[in-house]
Amino acid sequence: MATSKLMTESFYHLQERVEQARTQTDSLFALLRPDAIYDRPIPERHRLIFYLGHLESFDWNLLGRDTFGLASTHPTFDKLFAFGIDPVDGQLPSDQPADWPTVGEIQAYNAKLRETIDAALRAPSSKLAAEASGTSLDTLLNVAVEHRLMHAETLAYLLHQLPIEKKIAPQMLSQQAVDAPASQSVGPRMRKIPEGEATLGMPRERKEFGWDNEFEGLTVSVPQFNIGAYPVTNGEYLEFVRSGGYEEKAHWSAEDWQWITSQGISHPLFWERSRSNTAANHNNWEYRGMFTQIPLPLDWPVYASHAEASAYTRWAKRALPSEAQWHRAAYGTPTESECLYPWGDVAPDAQRGNFDFAHWDPTPVNGYPSGQSAFGVHDLLGNGWEWTSTPFAPFPGFKPFPFYPGYSANFFDGKHFVMKGGSQRTAACMLRRSFRNWFQPHYPYVYAKFRTVEE
Ligand code: AVJ
Ligand code: FE
Repeated sequence: MATSKLMTESFYHLQERVEQARTQTDSLFALLRPDAIYDRPIPERHRLIFYLGHLESFDWNLLGRDTFGLASTHPTFDKLFAFGIDPVDGQLPSDQPADWPTVGEIQAYNAKLRETIDAALRAPSSKLAAEASGTSLDTLLNVAVEHRLMHAETLAYLLHQLPIEKKIAPQMLSQQAVDAPASQSVGPRMRKIPEGEATLGMPRERKEFGWDNEFEGLTVSVPQFNIGAYPVTNGEYLEFVRSGGYEEKAHWSAEDWQWITSQGISHPLFWERSRSNTAANHNNWEYRGMFTQIPLPLDWPVYASHAEASAYTRWAKRALPSEAQWHRAAYGTPTESECLYPWGDVAPDAQRGNFDFAHWDPTPVNGYPSGQSAFGVHDLLGNGWEWTSTPFAPFPGFKPFPFYPGYSANFFDGKHFVMKGGSQRTAACMLRRSFRNWFQPHYPYVYAKFRTVEE
């Protein structure tokens, strides 16, 4: 049959990836105790119940409704669950649990959508229907898969903020602790990066999948600078806290100072003062892990907001790297060629870093020596996104996706900063060089670390 020719191998592979991504997000909802689904662990975000409907309604609106032109079974839910929120004006949502549908209603909606989407994808005409909509099915399926996997990370950091007793720890947990890479000695702390070029983004001719903000390619020349060989650790950040860093206005920008003082912030969100005072709990600090609370691990990267990261760099008389400096340190080489990954051109695997759902929490900053870059910079991909000093903005030649015009463009407002790298909960497919993440400077919930530069 002619249809079999249209069904390329990559199409089957993509359908397989949709299925795997669904398994991934389903497993996250299974970690919740039943009463937690209506909680709002992060005040700036929707209640968890929203995400239960959002993942399916997103796929439905993109594929079922806009690509295959199918009739909706539930237009109200399609709209209710279409988009998340990111308030930039300090206004917080005020909806109540009773404003949302029941779990059963949403599960029935979800099952129906999955079934309808899968049947439409299996139909011989699916590829042609997509081409007729102006976008290849390949691109649309990549969008669906990566959108869902991004939410697998979003959900993880949302669940992180739930009280531990509202979560059901997976059986594998004790084993994960054993598997965590052993800490090795940390060598010199700064690396010299010689002047050279860095390629950001990706040329359209490459014909690889990327989100709208990854195009076009942009080559910039970067003067010599020094960069931290490792991200800043909890131990290093503790010195800043102990030296009174949160009480010294001079370390903070006006808006950042206003933020920490009005919110009463005096330490990173993932830290908590401990009640007991033993030698093991390092000056009374504990770490709020996903399923356990432990004495503060001094050799893990500190997770901090952009505001806190910036204050630390001012105190240390350094700066955050720009997006271009980060690229140069990660992908540049002494021979002036550029790699696809910090360690070279081979695809990510479990030896290269703490990513692709390997762990729930960070690992020591020096735990993956085989992930280091040609310039000896460690821990760049995984173990926490890395803040840059670069406001999120389009590269020259940017065109919004016609089927999702607001994905990036809604955030080109000077109020978001580019993050690079990835976290322990970032899927391997999004570790490509051109991938860009972004958040507001006063958003401390993401798994985000930073390193410092000297110019
Ligand atoms: C790219 C991670 C900033 O979570 O706000 C998910 C991804 N956009 N659904 C976000 C996203 C719409 C986005 N980030
Ligand atoms: Fe979304």
